Amino acid sequence: MGLLPVAVAVAIFLLLVDLMHRRQRWAARYPPGPMPVPGLGNLLQVDFQNMAYSCYKLRNRFGDVFSLQLAWKPVVVVNGLQAVREALVNHSEDTADRPPMPIYEHLGLRQNSTGVVMAPYGPAWREQRRFSVSTLRNFGLGKKSLEQWVTKEASCLCAAFANQDGRAFSPNTLLSQAVCNVIASLIYARRFEYDDPALIRMMDLLEDSLKEDSGLMPQVLNAVPMLLRIPGVAEKALPGQKALLALIDELLTEHKMTHDPNQPPRDLTDVFLTEVEKAKGNPESSFNDENLRMVVTDLFTAGMATTSTTLAWALLLMILHPDVQRRVHQEIDEVIGQGRRPEMGDQAHMPFTNAVIHEVQRFGDIIPMSVPHMTSRDTEVQGFLIPKGTTIITNLSSVLKDETVWEKPFRFHPEHFLDTEGRFVKFEAFMPFSAGRRACLGEPLARMELFLFFTCLLQCFSFSVPEGQPQPSDYGVPYFLVSPSPYQLCAVSR
Ligand code: HEM
Ligand SMILES: *[C@@H]1O[C@H](CO)[C@@H](O)[C@H](O)[C@H]1NC(C)=O
Ligand SMILES: *[C@@H]1O[C@H](CO)[C@@H](O)[C@H](O)[C@H]1NC(C)=O
Ligand SMILES: *[C@@H]1O[C@H](CO)[C@@H](O)[C@H](O)[C@H]1NC(C)=O
Repeated sequence: MGLLPVAVAVAIFLLLVDLMHRRQRWAARYPPGPMPVPGLGNLLQVDFQNMAYSCYKLRNRFGDVFSLQLAWKPVVVVNGLQAVREALVNHSEDTADRPPMPIYEHLGLRQNSTGVVMAPYGPAWREQRRFSVSTLRNFGLGKKSLEQWVTKEASCLCAAFANQDGRAFSPNTLLSQAVCNVIASLIYARRFEYDDPALIRMMDLLEDSLKEDSGLMPQVLNAVPMLLRIPGVAEKALPGQKALLALIDELLTEHKMTHDPNQPPRDLTDVFLTEVEKAKGNPESSFNDENLRMVVTDLFTAGMATTSTTLAWALLLMILHPDVQRRVHQEIDEVIGQGRRPEMGDQAHMPFTNAVIHEVQRFGDIIPMSVPHMTSRDTEVQGFLIPKGTTIITNLSSVLKDETVWEKPFRFHPEHFLDTEGRFVKFEAFMPFSAGRRACLGEPLARMELFLFFTCLLQCFSFSVPEGQPQPSDYGVPYFLVSPSPYQLCAVSR
């Protein structure tokens, strides 16, 4: 009998809590969006299976800057070059934070050991971002040693392609392994043979952990972190990422045993370990053993699948556009020939190849929604007010395919990056690495890998659709990371 008043009281209480979480929607100049339902917000109005279409409709209805409410989490989606540039570049400091990801705390992500990618905007992020950038520069981008690693790896990759003897095969695994070895050389100063079980396991785990990030479950757990308190839930979440961390721990333990502070550093891990020594007794430092594993894992996950997926797009687009492939061959023959390997110095003399690589990245559009940001204070985009603590989703796809910028946004058209005299031209709307303070820190390394792997492969081979097979599609498989639909090719030595 007494149940009804209790139920009413509980309902009123929940509505009030809900109202509290939603009050910013009534702030003046908050971006428009669909009306949220109490408790769930817009979770039911957005089709997570077909996110792109739902958002396309919302953009048509509400404009380039619109808001969503995912349970109690306020989200603003930003579309188009103008608005994305204003958010990421003009207000780079206000939008450089990341939304909290409670599920990662169970992987060891905690204060001062937050890695780089997910780190909140603050001293620990700044210290580690600076460390990664300067170590990358010292190890190679400045001194050529990393270039030698990549060139050597590209030769191994060409040898593995040649071993296929012109038969049809899917290049994905070999591309991933080659790219994985580049990161391994940076972090562990070693490479793995392509049939090494440790490498194969690492590839599998990296793939699993990426899939885990794209699922609905992490979204729900991050939006409603209370669920993580239920016994067993946290332990069951993200098994792939836990296994990946365990493997990285194994490799790091091995490395620590051979670390000699009196020798010049072999790699990024050695430099980090020296910093940990220096920071002993300083609780404020982000150089500690827990953070070493987070930073290393971040560099592997951020640097691996991105680069190899881009290369998979590049080869697919070459077999679909033989005329473009022919012109790349021609430029390689003119500038490099067959007598030596390509080097970074050639890039400036190869505008067509450079344009093709840029167009592959634009068309492939592999991280359409980028990585979520969060406002660290109230800010303004296109006249709308976005309060502190709002998750910002920047739609990079809408910039890479902005119809007001590109001549043929939805076609593969390398001429986008060439002027009438065939010179390479840059575009502000070329944003596959995002922009602003949080922009990809691996961009120089990624560019080096894309150029050296791509030109080495095209120097050695002609690629084609295997005889008797249908033309593969150039539609991507929609995920957090968009890869081409599975395809096979033939590589014939030139
Ligand atoms: C074609 C290859 C690549 C693409 C398309 C790419 C793209 C991106 C994008 C879109 C972001 C998010 C930026 C943002 O939040 O605004 C990002 C962040 C990041 N990337 Fe890359 N990336 C690539 C390769 C690499 C490589 C090779 C490395 C490292 C060796 C790397 C390391 C990182 C890191 C550490 C971050 C986080 C930066 C931060 O939060 O401060 N990426 N990348
Ligand atoms: C991003 O932009 C593309 C192209 O304009 C659109 O199809 C997609 O629905 C947009 N996604 C979001 C989340 O707004
Ligand atoms: C953003 O910054 C650029 C260059 O600093 C400036 O030209 C542009 O007007 C700014 N945009 C807005 C909306 O403030
Ligand atoms: C992390 O660093 C901050 C300052 O950067 C310091 O105040 C805090 O005590 C440190 N936290 C831990 C858990 O070590």
